Amino acid sequence: MKSTSLFQGANHEWVVFGRDPDKPEKIIDTNQYLVKSGDNGILLDPGGIEIFAPMLTAVLREIPLENITDIFASHQDPDIISSLGLWDKALPDSTLHSPWLWEGFIRHFGMENMEYHALPDEGGTLRIGNIDLHLIPAHYVHSSGNFSVYDPISKILMSGDAGAALEHGDVPLFVENFDDHIQYMKGFHQRWMPSNQAKNDWIYRVRALDVEILAPQHGRLFKGDDVKKFLDWFEALNVGTAIK
Ligand SMILES: [Fe+2]
Ligand SMILES: [Fe+2]
Repeated sequence: MKSTSLFQGANHEWVVFGRDPDKPEKIIDTNQYLVKSGDNGILLDPGGIEIFAPMLTAVLREIPLENITDIFASHQDPDIISSLGLWDKALPDSTLHSPWLWEGFIRHFGMENMEYHALPDEGGTLRIGNIDLHLIPAHYVHSSGNFSVYDPISKILMSGDAGAALEHGDVPLFVENFDDHIQYMKGFHQRWMPSNQAKNDWIYRVRALDVEILAPQHGRLFKGDDVKKFLDWFEALNVGTAIK
């Protein structure tokens, strides 16, 4: 599992984990994120049970286990948080922040020790060390209870499945040619995003933020002008389709 620093500031750092060469071929490739500040760290969408071992190894190169105080799960999908039962053993005193809507479902992944902080639909902020992360409502994009995470200092938006691409192999971390990248995103967004109204609401909220890096849970990240190109493309796309 590779790890790459996305942002290093005076008070905090963002790290992305992914592109695991040993990942079984039939499970979808995922990006996991760590934000660390002071003596605290939060894992954002720490991933599936299948990648727990390489993920833990990679995370421990970045932060001591006792400093991982929080985990965030944007929604209930297995590629987001089916590793929960193992994190629950590794980090028994930590807190899981996840939508209230999914508590009764996510607990099926196994959760005996950690605390579940049920996020209200309107979102809010999470204090991690010396910084605040903003929870941006992303309901029905694609899950019916779902959040993006925005950091106004680094200007990183962790967008979950919005912006996801299905591209195989050891692909670069960032989009290099937006038009060429569309082929890897189009079917995913048409099929997994159920509502034009919901995705347009989300785009409206995101356009109000100053985003330098849009960081999805699958595939390449968008930087600079490509963030705007993605939002324009997503706005024009008719979603909730792709049923032949
Ligand atoms: Fe998902
Ligand atoms: Fe996903």
